[in-house]
Amino acid sequence: MGIATIVVAAGSGSRFGGEKQFSRLGGRSLVDHAVVRALEVSNAVAVAVPEGSGYGYPDQRVTVVAGGATRAASVRAAFSALAGEFDMVLVHDAARPLTPVPVFERVVAALARGNPVVVPVLPVNDTLKRVEEGVVTGTVDRDRLARAQTPQGFAWDALAAVVRSGLEGTDDAVLAEGLGFTVTTVAGDERSLKVTTPEDLSLLRMPSAGLGLDFHRFGEPGRFRLAGVELVGWEVIAHSDGDVLAHAVADAALGAAGIGGIGDVFLDSDPRWSGADSLELLAECVEMVRERGFGIGKVDATVILERPKIAPYLETMAANLARVTGGEVVVKAKRAEGLGDIGAGRGLSAFALVVLGNG
Ligand code: CTP
Ligand code: MG
Repeated sequence: MGIATIVVAAGSGSRFGGEKQFSRLGGRSLVDHAVVRALEVSNAVAVAVPEGSGYGYPDQRVTVVAGGATRAASVRAAFSALAGEFDMVLVHDAARPLTPVPVFERVVAALARGNPVVVPVLPVNDTLKRVEEGVVTGTVDRDRLARAQTPQGFAWDALAAVVRSGLEGTDDAVLAEGLGFTVTTVAGDERSLKVTTPEDLSLLRMPSAGLGLDFHRFGEPGRFRLAGVELVGWEVIAHSDGDVLAHAVADAALGAAGIGGIGDVFLDSDPRWSGADSLELLAECVEMVRERGFGIGKVDATVILERPKIAPYLETMAANLARVTGGEVVVKAKRAEGLGDIGAGRGLSAFALVVLGNG
């Protein structure tokens, strides 16, 4: 009983130029993206992958099987790997990594209303021409056409009939149509784009950026840290080690991933961070960003302070930040030209822009 999803990921990606399902996007493979989303609505997930791919997914609800020579054969292999009967089975392309969970939910809701086969579709917005040898021979009425996406949903018996039939087709609904099932549509989503070529994958890589700032006051003469580099001048008055540069980068990374700010994640009152190494704190933030499926692409940061002169250390700071974030990092320094408290040398600040990449 319940809902199972079959993720088909056993294709060879001939138009992509390789097994696209294992390409990475935002910190995880396309197939992992599909499985993560499928798990949001499913009690069990069966993934069909190429024989000997070594693919695994660390969740006991997920079963991995070797697929077949065609998409329909892969569906059959995954279907027979499902343990027991489910009320409904969804079939989803691993090549659609970013299908929003609400699309899965719309399919499930339509099945729950008693429809045996459900397909998410989108309208055709371009005018469609019939073309023969480079010459237009007619215009097709697009109002009666729709683009079919996945996940496609089936009552258990409907998919069992498709599997038994051994029919072949580029999607599963077409097979059900052939068997006389009524196929009902729900709204698809443009973000559910199917990756066919490398260009499709670049379309899905949307840049997201975050801005981070941090300020600290100087105290007694002593040492302070910037991106892990220890500098001689003053102590910084702070709960952690007061590394404004690491904090600004962490804040920007969390913001870019939509998590919030460093103050939301690490409470000042948390004794763990008393005098903590801020590069470790940054590493935790980067890990949270990765868990969201992103990576750090670029970091551009500026430290503002009057003295000491930090130009000789900027490259080391950038290298430290690059090691921890995995991104491309630039660190610059500026004086505040005597303006305000920072200009008077009573403290320092850092600004960072982080652009997320594909980790
Ligand atoms: N698929 C599968 N088993 C096959 C063929 C395809 O599981 N024998 C899966 C693909 O991995 C993909 C989905 O079906 O997730 C849609 O297929 P398609 O986009 O055509 O992927 P490929 O067959 O891998 O690509 P190509 O046709 O360019 O070779
Ligand atoms: Mg194919």
